[in-house]
Amino acid sequence: MGFLRRLLTTVLCLGFIAAVFFSVYFGMKALQFGDTVMKTEAKAKRTYHFVLVPEEMDNDYWRLVEKGARAAEKDFGVTVEYTGPEKADTEQHIKTIDMAIASKADGIITQGLNEKAFDPIINKAMQKGIPVVTVDTDSPTSERIAYVGTDNYYAGVLAGKALIHDTKGKAVVGIITGRFDAAHQRLRVQGFRDAVKNVPGIKIVAIEESKITRIGAAEKASKILDEHPDVTAFYGTSALDAIGISQVAEKRHLTGSLYIIGFDTLPETLNLIRTRKIDATVTQQPYEMGYKSVELMLDIVKKKKVPEITNTETRVIHLQDLLHKGDAPQP
Ligand code: BGC
Repeated sequence: MGFLRRLLTTVLCLGFIAAVFFSVYFGMKALQFGDTVMKTEAKAKRTYHFVLVPEEMDNDYWRLVEKGARAAEKDFGVTVEYTGPEKADTEQHIKTIDMAIASKADGIITQGLNEKAFDPIINKAMQKGIPVVTVDTDSPTSERIAYVGTDNYYAGVLAGKALIHDTKGKAVVGIITGRFDAAHQRLRVQGFRDAVKNVPGIKIVAIEESKITRIGAAEKASKILDEHPDVTAFYGTSALDAIGISQVAEKRHLTGSLYIIGFDTLPETLNLIRTRKIDATVTQQPYEMGYKSVELMLDIVKKKKVPEITNTETRVIHLQDLLHKGDAPQP
């Protein structure tokens, strides 16, 4: 009896140990299998990694481009890395694009600021199989696949026409431009010049560079006013220029008598229009540029056909246009 009981106990114990062993063994196998399945699924769902290189990281205008790109990032399940120079700087800008190439990004979205400096790096990316979409500023001579942004020449023409209309065809004009070497700034100036060239009452007497900073714009507006006290109007061609010009006008008690037309609809610019310190501004769609450029890039990596040029809307707005939106005028 005693022997049978011991035998039974031994068999039961061995059975228990075997059961534990098999459940642990097969449990781990199942986990490993699940892990492999998950890894394979993740690979299949692998999100694309696009790099967006702005002209200047913390510039309010570029933060709007980033915001649009981030919205597209969420909507399309891709990754957008926003990285670039702290302050506008061609060398740093190109270095950042080069780093994006070295990191084997799936696509690069950036400006084509000028053909000499930017075409070689854009072409290098393309030759390494990394598609490039230009945003805000195009370099049509490069091998980039597509451009999304304002028609910068046309925007300059609109600014010129608005100035002719608002000053009744009589003005001595100083221009503050973001950068002499940047294609979009040159086009905005050229469009403006062409629009006013046949109006005898309009004279452009000076053009200076702000380096796209408001302080630069203020310093250069002061310089122009010192050298040309007869200036009656300013045209600022990048987002912070009119803001800087308006500060100088205020300091010199010229608010109201000096006509100012600028670029972009940053909240500060709109407030200065509401308080009648800036007369008009040329609108751009930086948010849409960011969104659309990511959407296009995704189509490109999926080998879909995309339009070469997508021009975002641009027009000139005045105080009246803001009032239509239900805003109250401010004294
Ligand atoms: C231009 C941008 C530029 C920004 C500078 C905008 O009007 O479109 O390219 O970086 O101004 O503030």
